[in-house]
Amino acid sequence: MNSHAFGLMLATAALSTSALAQVDPNKLVDAQEAVGGKFEGYRRSGAKGVCAMAEFVGSAEGRALSTASAFNGKPVPVIARFSVGGGNPKAPDNARSQRNLALQFNLPKGEVWQMGNISAPVFGAATPEQFLGRLESLTPDPETKKPNPEKVKAFADANPEVLLQGKYLASQPVPASYGAVNYWGVHAFGFVDAKGKKQFGKWIFEPVGGTQGLSDDEAKAKGPDFLIDELRQRVAAGNVAFDFKLQLAEAGDRLDSAVTPLPEERKKVTLGRLTIKSVAPDATGACLAITYNPLTLPKGVEAGPDPMLAARAAPYAVSLSRRLTEGAKQ
Ligand code: HEM
Repeated sequence: MNSHAFGLMLATAALSTSALAQVDPNKLVDAQEAVGGKFEGYRRSGAKGVCAMAEFVGSAEGRALSTASAFNGKPVPVIARFSVGGGNPKAPDNARSQRNLALQFNLPKGEVWQMGNISAPVFGAATPEQFLGRLESLTPDPETKKPNPEKVKAFADANPEVLLQGKYLASQPVPASYGAVNYWGVHAFGFVDAKGKKQFGKWIFEPVGGTQGLSDDEAKAKGPDFLIDELRQRVAAGNVAFDFKLQLAEAGDRLDSAVTPLPEERKKVTLGRLTIKSVAPDATGACLAITYNPLTLPKGVEAGPDPMLAARAAPYAVSLSRRLTEGAKQ
């Protein structure tokens, strides 16, 4: 390589690094702590959760779309984690809030695929800068101990996308079970086949038994802590599985936006089935000390051009480092 080409390569690397490093991940995690409270040892988001072990079997449709070994048709062990959104480890299970499904596929030859999916088709911000701005607008005022409603309104008026996720969750009933709600990947990913052809899409995990919501009275009667025991019972009865589906993007669809779902009419294919095999009996388990970095992808699956996806890995590592240092809990 001549020195000019090498210099160009360095310049390109520096450019892409600076593009990714625009928002300090420590600032993002500090802002999450300022808004949601600081709970030592816990994840700074998805704090209240439980580990589970699962198995994934890929389909022929999955194999046709991607060379990823996850789709080879043989059972793949998966370390799963179910959680309630936000940094509060005592967040109520009976509120119309976010549920999460995080997965680590342990693939052949030591390959790993990690993802964190949420119970809404969109995230609460389009860029990390906007997410930081939203968190800052929600930070309690030191005197009143509450967010300043004028600040909250001014930011949301100028950034209306930040309200979309909350509007979706408010429109849905409280999920009756971690095993009976849809979980979306939110970002676009590219699926690469044996000929090198790349199909972009957005994925969703759909409960095989359908979704199930609680009426307001039922939610009240359940109380704030029912989801983990309910999941243990449902899994012991062998009734928790999800179809892993990919909604296929078409030319002109936005691939760079965590606040813009693909058009509803886009075709969905089933990539395989995830079956939950067991739930941890307590707060321990293999999920406790890992962070689900959505950029840890297998060969055959590639990140799409979403700035929100690119921004996740660093703050997750910051949160992991803080909670491991404090003594990991959930
Ligand atoms: C820059 C934007 C974001 C920041 C700063 C952020 C921050 C965090 C942090 C600090 C954690 C805890 C990580 C750990 O301790 O292991 C977390 C977990 C999580 N996040 Fe995000 N996040 C962002 C964007 C997103 C988006 C767009 C999604 C949508 C799919 C998402 C879904 C999740 C899920 C499902 C978990 C729980 C994972 C688990 O159970 O370990 N996050 N996030």
